Amino acid sequence: MSGSLPIEPLGKLRQRKSTKWREYDADVLPLPVAEMDYPIAEPIIEAVTEMMRRSDTGYLGKFPELGEAFAGFALRRWNWRVNPESIRITTDVGVATIEILRTLGSTGDRVVVMPPVYPAFYNWTKEIHLTMVEAPLLKDGVSYSIDFAALEREFAAGAKFFIISNPHNPLGLIFTPTDLKSIASLAEKYNVTILSDEIHAPLTYSGNMFTPFASVSEEAKERVITLTSASKSWNLAGLKCSVFFTENKELHEKLEPLVKGIRSRASLIGAAGHVAAFSQADDWLDSAIATMEASNRLLHALVEKKWPNVKLSNPKNSYLSWIDFSQTKLGEDPAIELLEKARVALSSGIPFGAGGKHHARLNFATSDEILEAAIDRISPWL
Ligand SMILES: Cc1ncc(COP(=O)(O)O)c(C=O)c1O
Repeated sequence: MSGSLPIEPLGKLRQRKSTKWREYDADVLPLPVAEMDYPIAEPIIEAVTEMMRRSDTGYLGKFPELGEAFAGFALRRWNWRVNPESIRITTDVGVATIEILRTLGSTGDRVVVMPPVYPAFYNWTKEIHLTMVEAPLLKDGVSYSIDFAALEREFAAGAKFFIISNPHNPLGLIFTPTDLKSIASLAEKYNVTILSDEIHAPLTYSGNMFTPFASVSEEAKERVITLTSASKSWNLAGLKCSVFFTENKELHEKLEPLVKGIRSRASLIGAAGHVAAFSQADDWLDSAIATMEASNRLLHALVEKKWPNVKLSNPKNSYLSWIDFSQTKLGEDPAIELLEKARVALSSGIPFGAGGKHHARLNFATSDEILEAAIDRISPWL
């Protein structure tokens, strides 16, 4: 079992310049946006520093090392064989999603998502004038499952794309191979292209197995475009780099015109950092997972003791907790009230789509001290 990662004290964290630490007033404990308070993995620091020392700070061009590094990681961690040559580099998962949909779709095309889900999916599709439709997950207490009837209804109504957060943000759900196979069969039946956003996948907890969507069946292999990045799992969002690929030859060809343009909008330094993440930072990743599993346990213990009228999700992946405040005094948007009253910043549940009211998301990739302080600040307002 790997040890926990050391986390700097609050005063030191507040010196960071990222959005998590700059968005709010100095008295607020920030637990919203998906950034980690962990220290960066040493091999990534070395790779990025080495680029700077060599003054190797030009544009990103051909960079086969990244495809190879990701393919190596996928084989080691998930026993998934990916062709490194099929891998394309882009700025981030957001840019890749937008540009792929812009290339393959037309104004008004329908895109299905399964809320509550990562809010940017809504913003990205809106930005290019596609129409978002929802097939909400079924809720049973704190457990969620896919509503296949709703999914089929939306696919049959003419959806062209389906975007899945696999594993699922904000619930930390791991979809089973059976679930994914069933979605792929429906997509085949109604000719829907699947974008599988697998950015959280490396952060899957011990004893659980992540399933890459494209690996589950021949149908999936032909229907899925996989998008991922080291930005969530190794906290590299500021390095601006990500990858996408598909094993469907026709789709791969259709996306060719995108490649040069979007690759040069990604960061060369970021690509070098991503190579280090995918090829030299497994130990760090295991420690990060162990740290977040411990924080999740602490959060559950604290909530059970101090917030008896609140329900928490049971993530199997990543560092996000989906919190149901519906039995408390708080209104439809608990995050807004808690920012004002408790001076703790959570992500509002409402932008996560259907099922988001009375909920908020908490990022627990932080220290025990900060988590405990946040719980204590919020307690009087429930
Ligand atoms: C599911 C999911 N996809 C994408 C992103 C953003 O990725 P990027 O910064 O590469 O656009 C996030 C960030 O939190 C996320 O949770």
